[in-house]
Amino acid sequence: MTIKYNSKYLDDIKCALVNGELIIFPTETVYGLGANALNEKAVHSIFKAKGRANDNPLIVHLANKSDINKYAIISNEVERKLIDCFMPGPFTIILKKRDIIPNIVSANLDTVGIRIPNNYIAHNILEFTRIPIAAPSANISGRPSGTQIKDIELEFKDKVKYIIDGSESEIGLESTVVKVIDGVPTILRPGFVTREDIISVVGECNLSSNLFNANITEKVESPGMKYRHYAPKNEVLLVYSSNNDTLCNLVKENLKGRTTVIGNSVLKDIDCYKFINYGDTLGEISHNIFHLLRIADQDNPDLIIIEGVPKTGLGLAIMNRLIRACSYNYIEKD
Ligand code: TXA
Ligand code: MG
Repeated sequence: MTIKYNSKYLDDIKCALVNGELIIFPTETVYGLGANALNEKAVHSIFKAKGRANDNPLIVHLANKSDINKYAIISNEVERKLIDCFMPGPFTIILKKRDIIPNIVSANLDTVGIRIPNNYIAHNILEFTRIPIAAPSANISGRPSGTQIKDIELEFKDKVKYIIDGSESEIGLESTVVKVIDGVPTILRPGFVTREDIISVVGECNLSSNLFNANITEKVESPGMKYRHYAPKNEVLLVYSSNNDTLCNLVKENLKGRTTVIGNSVLKDIDCYKFINYGDTLGEISHNIFHLLRIADQDNPDLIIIEGVPKTGLGLAIMNRLIRACSYNYIEKD
């Protein structure tokens, strides 16, 4: 059942979580598919509802920084500084886990991802219930993450107790996932909190070498990197050039049958099946992109061409998602 968020529902939401049921709730990044993190059976039903591989661990959401110590261990000053600066917010830190977190949540790793959302609805739920909520993004595994209620209802309507409507997700891309390795923060998944932001606080920040890799077979720091992700059902091609003429030519050269083009206004006059404007700033693109991938998919075009962005700041996160959405079908020209 979908409910428009109101604090009068907090008792019902708590009841659902206590009973091991699933809820879908808004955060500032994307919607989460949540259950009581301490209830193994409830967590199992998250994996089932999403069709998620059981070696891919879940993030645990908490109300306040002071709750972290109950579920995980802060081992050094770098971790402490990151927590002080970026939480609450669109930031997940991988910490050594305490035994109270069931192994199913962490996929048998000895670490757990901790996030403190700053969306007021997520915060109110966590604060009122005092239940740690394990939650992946609200989408069937492999599909674009859920950022709008209508998209989420199509996939989960009959699978969860409540879908809590908090309108469109503000940021639209999932949180930055960071693990401190040998004293250095390492971004396992880029997001709204950028590498530049982290460097300004702790002086250094590495990027996982797998952010743009196609065939990941070896052991990876973040199991989520291995899987096909964010993908529409139809074929996708990602193109990028910093030169507008080269970019337009790249698109024109690759048109195929009914091609839908997603990009900024520079591409609007290209003669194609459909043009979708994804916005002109990185913030707008991040907010819109997952929903637009779903829209483009709806009428089964022969090809979806997406315009890439520079891989700096928030652009790194956008490109990390798009490179997976296109299954590494990517052309870049100067
Ligand atoms: O913004 C977000 O992070 C959203 C909202 C709902 O909070 N959640 C989200 O969860 O994106 P999910 O499950 O779709 O993505 C979590 C990512 C996965 O790539 C997973 O592999 C990684 O975080 N992860 C979780 N726990 C980990 C751990 N202990 N070590 C390494 N990576 C971990
Ligand atoms: Mg996800």
